Amino acid sequence: MAWKTLDDMDLAGKRVLARVDINVPLEGGVVTDATRIERISPTVQDILSKGGKPILLAHFGRPKGVRVPDLSLQQLVPALEAAFGAHVVFAADCIGPGAVAAADALKEGQVLLLENTRFHAEEEQNDPEFAKKLAEVGDVFCNDAFSAAHRAHASTTGVAELLPSCAGRLMQAELSALEAALGEPERPVVAVVGGAKVSTKLELLGNLVEKVDQLVIGGGMANTFLAALGKPVGSSLCEHEMADTAREILGKAEAAGCEIILPEDIVVAREFKANAENETLRADACPEDAMILDAGPETVSRIKVALKSAKTLIWNGPLGAFEIEPFDAATVAAAKYAAKRTIEGKLTSVAGGGDTVSALNRAGAAEDFSYVSTAGGAFLEWMEGKTLPGVAALGG
Ligand code: 3PG
Ligand code: MG
Repeated sequence: MAWKTLDDMDLAGKRVLARVDINVPLEGGVVTDATRIERISPTVQDILSKGGKPILLAHFGRPKGVRVPDLSLQQLVPALEAAFGAHVVFAADCIGPGAVAAADALKEGQVLLLENTRFHAEEEQNDPEFAKKLAEVGDVFCNDAFSAAHRAHASTTGVAELLPSCAGRLMQAELSALEAALGEPERPVVAVVGGAKVSTKLELLGNLVEKVDQLVIGGGMANTFLAALGKPVGSSLCEHEMADTAREILGKAEAAGCEIILPEDIVVAREFKANAENETLRADACPEDAMILDAGPETVSRIKVALKSAKTLIWNGPLGAFEIEPFDAATVAAAKYAAKRTIEGKLTSVAGGGDTVSALNRAGAAEDFSYVSTAGGAFLEWMEGKTLPGVAALGG
């Protein structure tokens, strides 16, 4: 790799500003999936063992430049301490005298966590003055946030221009594993794309159809496609204004010879809650007062057929409302089958996305996939061959 790693840096006694992605799911202040935290542990341990002071720089959620108490990173201190086995000091701002003083006062073996960078609007604007203030808190910059590398923000790119910079261990692992699995994938390639972030992914889907042989569309975004095909979706999560885009993607897929797999049957309910009364219907039969919360068993069978002949699987996003039972059924069944094919040596399976990782963990399938990335949007953009600003800023 062209960029520097922790091995190339002299860290003894240095304040190492480590950009990490600890944007983890929280329920009632408790971390429900600590994967992203666990995966940055090697970088933190490495900095500590080289005598450096790890200073964690991160965003959390999308507060849009406002201090939102529910999005304070302070809530993650216990989970970080458990993962690192080290005392974690918290600084209530990521810039300014308080942050600098906390960094200077950090004792050997301790880790400093800086407050949510997105409490400052200048972070997402990649404001040069703000980047300078971030750079004052460290002597060396280490980017370990592959999953935030698609954002050209002050903490991912701006600060990299101001301090000697290197890639962290997770960044290195992500880039080498994705390159190995997807550089020249064995065909047929099946992509599974699901989840609720519909408008952000529709654009990406357009590029994907030109690269893969079959594309399974699930979750909230499938509803947008069903609606675009004139099917009723009731009160489902659906971006009706994206109908033209969805139809364009379908046309592009046809022209590229990519088969699109949409739900053939659906599981609907009247309430978005665990164990809500539900029924399985044909995909064109959603009642007006119901919402689609999962794909049905026929769709799962169809997906299994695709996976059976596939050599490579790229998975991003759950197929249904996987966080509430029983609407995780399609996601769990498809994930288990993909894991089985992988164990048998028939399939190279690569998955990415915060939600996807949670879903695979839930299915007990994550460990059996060939590689599980911690990235969502960055994972997809990387797959499209786009340059990720956070990676480019390391000067590779
Ligand atoms: C993620 O969770 O996908 C990353 O942390 C990036 O977050 P963002 O999509 O809010 O930029
Ligand atoms: Mg994202």
